[in-house]
This record gives sequence, structure tokens and C-alpha cells, in this order.
Amino acid sequence: MAEAFYITTPIYYVNAKPHLGHAYTTIVADVARRFNDMCGRETYFLTGTDEHGDKIVEAARNHDMTPKAYVDHISQMFRDLWPQLDISNDDFIRTTYPAHMAVVERILQTIYDRGDIYFSEYEGLYCFGCERFYTERELVEGKCPDHDKAPETIREANYFFKMSKYQDWLIDHINRHPDFIRPERYRNEVLAFLREPLEDLCISRPKSRLQWGITLPFDSDYVTYVWFDALLNYISALGFPDGERYAQFWPHAQHLVAKDILKPHGIYWPIMLKAAGIPIYRHLNVHGYWNVDQAKMSKSIGNVVAPLAMKDVYGLDAFRFFLLRDMVFGLDSSFSEEAMIQRINSDLANDLGNLFSRVVTMAHKYFQGEVPPIDHGVDKALQLGLDADAARATIDFETAMSHFEFHKALQAVWEFIGRLNKCIDVSAPWELAKREASRKELACVIYNLLEGLRVIAGLIYPVMPATARRMQTHLGLDPQQPFYQLDTVGKWKLLPTGTRLPKSITLFPRVVAPSQATAASQETKSQPLSPALRDAIAIDDFAKIDLRVATVIHAEPIPKAKKLLKLEVDMGERRTIVSGIAQHYKPDDLIGRQVIIVANLKPVKLMGVESRGMLLASVDGQDCTLATMDTPTRQGARIS
Ligand code: MSP
Repeated sequence: MAEAFYITTPIYYVNAKPHLGHAYTTIVADVARRFNDMCGRETYFLTGTDEHGDKIVEAARNHDMTPKAYVDHISQMFRDLWPQLDISNDDFIRTTYPAHMAVVERILQTIYDRGDIYFSEYEGLYCFGCERFYTERELVEGKCPDHDKAPETIREANYFFKMSKYQDWLIDHINRHPDFIRPERYRNEVLAFLREPLEDLCISRPKSRLQWGITLPFDSDYVTYVWFDALLNYISALGFPDGERYAQFWPHAQHLVAKDILKPHGIYWPIMLKAAGIPIYRHLNVHGYWNVDQAKMSKSIGNVVAPLAMKDVYGLDAFRFFLLRDMVFGLDSSFSEEAMIQRINSDLANDLGNLFSRVVTMAHKYFQGEVPPIDHGVDKALQLGLDADAARATIDFETAMSHFEFHKALQAVWEFIGRLNKCIDVSAPWELAKREASRKELACVIYNLLEGLRVIAGLIYPVMPATARRMQTHLGLDPQQPFYQLDTVGKWKLLPTGTRLPKSITLFPRVVAPSQATAASQETKSQPLSPALRDAIAIDDFAKIDLRVATVIHAEPIPKAKKLLKLEVDMGERRTIVSGIAQHYKPDDLIGRQVIIVANLKPVKLMGVESRGMLLASVDGQDCTLATMDTPTRQGARIS
């Protein structure tokens, strides 16, 4: 029986609306949970909101609302956002829930009874933005590193948690579990911090200064420090101490956070657990920061990227893919719309999208939309090692995903996509299709390519669940059956021969930046209509032109003709067309595409090749764009 898997995100402060940074962490957690589903594990995914403390009170005041009304409102915005990003959390915890508050009281009492909480007068440097005291050495030029403001000296009697007592234990625990905090740079950061003596943690705030919090069970004049309260969400949400979910999932807990909250998670939290006699979590997975225009993105700076705006413009799966593919987990990344567009066009529209439509279109073309039979004697594509490549891609994917190295996992999948594209070029199905004697070989090639697509549909599932499902449907797989279990995904020859395939679709259209699109349309508008309009014609004149839908089956350059390509198209019947698009399209990129042709032009000979028709395209200065159909259409359909 596979181990269980429990993943958490930070619970987000409700002093501002959700932004790209929150979306990233929560999408990563979703990807990790879906991957663990693939591995056959029982999984549990928790996110939520952190609702106590000064910051929240201040934000509520700024909005002229009571803290309760304010936290309800913002918490709901987070909760509503997640389904729109295809995030599959099992639970949503709020620190204002009575059940959570009861757990906080209980743990405080336990640690107090064990003698690890003491009362003391303290004078220290307090940053109101961070809601915590700073030591001199933590300040940068006398200022809080996060808020760039000098902290204020305040004197208070407070309760302190004896963290110092556990310092050696924590160092030992980290040394004995090398992947407790990962990637390694963050483990080293925590160990470096622990080389200095650890100070005890002030875990109370006097009610004279703050009321919006959980009252200490042993002193009603104080509320609990917000971090001590918040960290406990990870167990309160599981029904600590007696809940079934707690028993099942807590032993397998993995936290996911960004580097900004490494210290509370890497130091306070394990020590709190140890002091309360609770087993320590398994892993702390730490990622870097998304920067926008080189500036750290944060609520206080205000240069936040609205995640929904991005997904609405470019599509949800493309957005998820970009975030997971472009950030090296653990390092910072710059978010730019240009980088996202480039990724979408190269990896999704070109590599994956084209592969998918070419293969499915060929299966329709050559085998009437059925998965063809495979004859082992002539299994040429297998000699190219596609089965071994699929198995290797699956292993590399699994290893990388298990270590939270999402960019590497996707690289492994895209290497395999590259192999399949290459396989089309090498085996040239359109050539095999010309000879009846090569029919079995053609069937093997198409079968193997379809198998490759099935593997890819499985492997992209955690990152792009909706696209994976569309691929599944278009490969004729039973939508009721999960198709992504890791123990079968990378196996070979699982697609049943004879499976009917729906018509091909465009998985990812190419995209342009809205700014470019606007600029382009403004350019078009501002220019005079050029060239000048031709003389008006009667409808009967137009009716003389026979326009048809055709699919490009084969494309090749014509020797010594720089501008010409020789195309073989299918419009219900096959014909050859010579087209002057060689400087705009590569032959490979045309195969499988639907185009519109003038079908009743008198044949002409160009560079010795007879051309029977013409492709429609817009020609505008240096640019040339082929006219195509909005959705896949029957070959030979008339356009009027
Ligand atoms: N409430 C605390 C966490 C308590 S957990 C017991 C908190 N909340 S927060 O709203 O500030 O969220 C911080 C987290 O949001 C980061 O750790 C990270 O997960 C995510 N991000 C916020 N900004 C981010 C970026 N610019 N880039 C990547 N992730 C970021 O801290």
C-alpha cells in the first residue's frame, strides 16, 4: 500500500487580495498533490487564510470595516479563486474557526504545563509591519529588511517560548534528515542561522495593544502571537489530536512555502512540535520569489499581477505550465508577459500542439480515424526506441516530481515530445502512404505516435489537467477511466487497436501579446486600405471560384526555387499544389494543417511541377499568413 501524502500551502494573510505569488504556491501544491495521486497515494491538500494580528486590524480599519467582516470578505476571495485555477484543495482552513482556536489553546497549555513558556519583562526593537521583535544583527542599517523602516523600542511584559532549549536538538534533526528542508540552499540557510545562539520567542501580545487574536489559556490579558497561532493550522485542520485524518496524514506532512517565511517554518514550527510532543513534519519545500519588472512583488509595494487576468488572456493550462516550467524551484524568477508568450508558442503551440494535431489528423487521413493495428514484424518506429524513450521520460519525470523539481520533470516530457516529432520526420508517413506495400509499416508508425501521445497526456496531467483530459478524449480513451496512473502511463502498446478517434483539435493556438495585437490592429486601422480595392464583381463572378477545404499531407522544398514549396493536399481527392510560401513556412510545420484552396484554377507548371490549385493567404509586405478553418472541417468542404 503506497504511503499517504499531505501537502500544505502557507495560510495567506487576508490584509490584501490574492496575487500571482499566492497563486504560484497554491498551483505548485496542486501539481504535487495530482502527481501523488498518479502514484496511487492517498492525498490531502490544505490551504487557507491567516486572519489574526495587527496587520489585519489595520487593513480592516483602512476599509472602515470590523475585523470580522473584513476577514470574511477577503478570505472568501481566496476561497473563490482556487477553483478558477483548477486547484483541487480538500480543505480550506481559517484561523478564526473555533476548532482551530481550540487547538491553539490546547497546545499553548501543553507547552506551558511542560514548563517551556515563561513570563518576563522585555525591551526590544519591534517592527509593526512584521509584528515581531528584531535583534540588532537582523536589521539592515538599523532598519527592518522587509519594511525598510527603523523598528521602535518597546518595553513589555510578555510570555516567552524556550526555543533556545531545543537549538541543539533541531541542528541534530536537520543533520540526520538531509532533505528535511529542501532545496539544499535553504537547509544551509537555516543551519547558518542556527550557528548563533537562538533567542526565545515572544509568543504573546498584551490586549492593551491588540485584541484581535486568540486569548492565552493561562492569562486572559494576552492574545497569542500570530505566528504561534497560524502554524498550528497544519494540525488543527486535520482534527488534531484525535481525528482520523490526523492519524492518516500527519506522519506524511510536507509544507510548501516561499523563502520569505523560511524561519518560522524551519525553526519555530519544528521546535513547537517537539515541545508539544508531536511528531515533526517530513519536508519543508521552499521556493523562490516571482519578481515583476525586477522588483520584488509584494502587497505593500502594490505591483501585483492579477493571476486571473493572465489565465483569462492566455488560458489556464498555459498559465500553469508557464509558472511551473519557467521557475527553477528554489530560485527567484522574473515574470514577464513576453516570456510567457514565447513559452506558449514554442513549447505548447509548436511542440505539443502541432504534434498532437499532425498525428491525429494522419490517423484520420490514413486509417479513417481508428487506432491502426500493429504488426510486430514491421514495427519500424519501435526500432527507433520510442518505447524505451517513453519509459525513460516517465522515470525522469517521477524522480524530478518527487524532489519538487518541476521544471526538470517538464523538460523530460518535452524531450520525449521532441523524439516523437523527430520520429514523424524520420519515418515520413506521407511517403509510406504512397505505397500499398508499406501499409503495415504506416500502421505501426501511426500506432506508435498515438501511443506516445497517450504517454504525454498522462505525464502532463498534474500541470495541465484540462489539456490532459482533452487529449484523453481525443485519443478515444474512456473518460471514466483514470489514464494517468504512473505504473501504467509509461508502458507501451496500451491503446486498443480499433479505438475510434474524434477529429483533431487545436490544443494551443499561437498567442500574441495584447499590446502587440492592439498595436497591429491600430496599424491596420491607421493605414489606408492597401492595395486599392479592385472593381466590384457580381455574385455570379464570385461563384465561379471553387474554394475548398484541404489538408496538407506532404510538403517539400523544390530544388533551386527559394520561394516555392511542393505540397500534396487532400480535398477528398489528392492533388499537388506549388505554393510560394517557402520563406514563411517550414515544410514540417504544414503537415496536418487545414488550408483553403482555389480548386478550379487551370493547372500550371512551375519549376517543372504541375500545380493544380492555389492556397489562400494574406500577403502584407513581408508577412504571409495562410488562411485556415476555425475548427477541423471535412476535407473538400466548399467555402462560399
Ligand atoms: N500568513 C503568513 C503565512 C502563515 S503560514 C502558517 C504569510 N502570508 S502571506 O500572505 O504573506 O503569504 C506568503 C506566501 O505567499 C509566500 O511564502 C509564498 O508562498 C507566497 N508568495 C507571496 N509573494 C510571492 C512571490 N512574489 N513569489 C512567490 N511566492 C510568493 O506569510
